[in-house]
Amino acid sequence: MRFISSLVSIVALLASTCSVGAVVGPGVVTGDTSVHDPSMCKVGSTYYLFSTAPGIEIRTSTDRTKWTLAGRVFPNGASWTDTYTGTSNGNLWAPDCYHDGSKFWLYYAASSFGSQKSAIFLATSTSGSPGSWTNNGLVISSAAGAAYNAIDPAITVDGSTHYLSWGSFWGGIYFSNHVNATSGLLTSTSSSNIAARPNNGGALEANTLFKNGNYWYLFTSWDKCCSGTSSTYNIRVGRSSSISGPFVDSSGTALTSGGGTLVLQTHDGIYGPGGQDVYLDSDGPILVYHYYTSSGNWLGINRLNFTSGWPVVA
Ligand SMILES: *[C@@H]1O[C@H](CO)[C@@H](O)[C@H](O)[C@H]1NC(C)=O
Ligand SMILES: *[C@@H]1O[C@H](CO)[C@@H](O)[C@H](O)[C@H]1NC(C)=O
Repeated sequence: MRFISSLVSIVALLASTCSVGAVVGPGVVTGDTSVHDPSMCKVGSTYYLFSTAPGIEIRTSTDRTKWTLAGRVFPNGASWTDTYTGTSNGNLWAPDCYHDGSKFWLYYAASSFGSQKSAIFLATSTSGSPGSWTNNGLVISSAAGAAYNAIDPAITVDGSTHYLSWGSFWGGIYFSNHVNATSGLLTSTSSSNIAARPNNGGALEANTLFKNGNYWYLFTSWDKCCSGTSSTYNIRVGRSSSISGPFVDSSGTALTSGGGTLVLQTHDGIYGPGGQDVYLDSDGPILVYHYYTSSGNWLGINRLNFTSGWPVVA
């Protein structure tokens, strides 16, 4: 009986594990795919991928599978960011791209680990080529004591209105509807808190807003990035009928109270998936992220299925 009851509990455990899902491996990508915090744009039939690096790395692909490193947004460094990175030509973090049909808008952050002295900047380019980018300047910054940390920008465009959201740790994710759609800069620094983890040291960042059907979905990365196979990043989501929230997870918990439904976590030798972007391609929504294996950090690309009302990795 003891044997049977433990067998029953193992079967029950397997069933509950399976119903959670989130055990789909990254789709196949080839070429140069060692990235952090990727963001995807598409112009004609060419995919562009921007990712964390000194000067920001640019990769291109014509099939979303095979990627080639094209070069850097700022091949000669970005001296205006040095005061925030605390070094010369330091890593520029978590770029987020938007292409409006004629030019790229690329928001990116400059900071250092554990510091609230951070800033988000904007660069634009018509070709997207290495070295073709204009520095459009500072968008928003933060200093010790601010409610937020000005990193991990996400630009979201709905019709002719542009929105900017950002943040990590401290107060969590902040949202602004004061984006000047012509300049890409903010007309006011006022913003609202749309997600936070008050009981978990605030460990969330890398937000992405994405519309599907009647809902806006807010994706974030929880826990610890950038630590090789010790990375515990996991991708979470909530939704709202309004882009400005309030967002709730699938059990109704507010994202501002630590809510977040699991989308993807460590599994099968894939560690710490996160730093994600969601891009609407011709075959549907695409989740773009990084993850670690014992040999490094890699690009993950999967389709997302929203049929149930909540995104499932396919
Ligand atoms: C928006 O930006 C444009 C271009 O820089 C500028 O001409 C315009 O005055 C700005 N509008 C506001 C409300 O700041
Ligand atoms: C999406 O998931 C649903 C189940 O919720 C399934 O019936 C459907 O075939 C899936 N769509 C794709 C394109 O995989």
